[in-house]
Amino acid sequence: MAVIENSKLTIVGAGSVGASAAYAALIRGSARHVALYDIATEKAEAEVLDLAHGTQFTGASDIIGGSDLSVVEGSHVVVVTAGAKQKPGQSRIELAGTNASILERMMPQLLEVAPHAVYVIVTNPCDVLTVLAQESTGLPPERIFASGTVLDTSRLRWKLAERAGVGTGSVHAYIVGEHGDTEFPLWSKATIGTVPILDWESGGTPRMTTAELDQIALDVRGAAEKVIQGKGATNYAIGLSTARIVEAVLRDERAVLPVSTVLSDFHGVDGVALSVPSVVSAAGAVPIRETSFAPRELELLHASADALRRVADSLRS
Ligand code: LAC
Repeated sequence: MAVIENSKLTIVGAGSVGASAAYAALIRGSARHVALYDIATEKAEAEVLDLAHGTQFTGASDIIGGSDLSVVEGSHVVVVTAGAKQKPGQSRIELAGTNASILERMMPQLLEVAPHAVYVIVTNPCDVLTVLAQESTGLPPERIFASGTVLDTSRLRWKLAERAGVGTGSVHAYIVGEHGDTEFPLWSKATIGTVPILDWESGGTPRMTTAELDQIALDVRGAAEKVIQGKGATNYAIGLSTARIVEAVLRDERAVLPVSTVLSDFHGVDGVALSVPSVVSAAGAVPIRETSFAPRELELLHASADALRRVADSLRS
């Protein structure tokens, strides 16, 4: 695999998440060509126009789009954001039935025009939709994965960076598991620079306590709900997270990101998609088997897997 020349990204769904992902991709120069596809013609075309009007101020990327499937042709990466979104007080899991039907209908059509693409599922519940779509399409697990806890990990690093008085890029910590209510941080591996999180007191900040870390984990889990209560949806941070994942594929970066793939024999987890640190490259995403878990973290990983399996099973039957 190598860096993809003349790369094409298609974003499916021109709602606030899809449009924000396109905006982030244009500004970051994530792909040479960006396409926005949505069955709602007017909405897709209006978003494309609005984005195109700004391209004097972005990089070399161009933007096209509309409601004709031909806009998806030749994509190297297809990001799926289409579907119903959470209402205030609703969990991501409550969207499962509606959005599973939408994906079931859409995936064969997308695969027909972009048979070689890497598919990134952003629509929620992204883990459940990924396992169902992987099974129904028969795509290799590395080529269809969810944005998973890349966003939650960014939320965690932002909080820890603020608390510790360092830049976000110097916090090494991951949220893993479901992108949702059973997610959890891998505290046993969290460091600032090379310093374990509980030992950090440089720059005059007091040490963190485990109670404080528990509260931070809770805040991260509830972060999307807080934004949804205030503005009805989350869009910017998921847009940026998505652009970051796309770059790792199109630039063949082999970047370590906590995306969600269907796991097999991963610390005893099988046939469920959930996030663990994975290597993301032009070939797709491959979970890092050497990731180790403290005993309590392993219990949480299995609890998250069990919760997701129950939802996926209920949709299969
Ligand atoms: C969030 C949505 C994308 O966490 O699930 O913001």
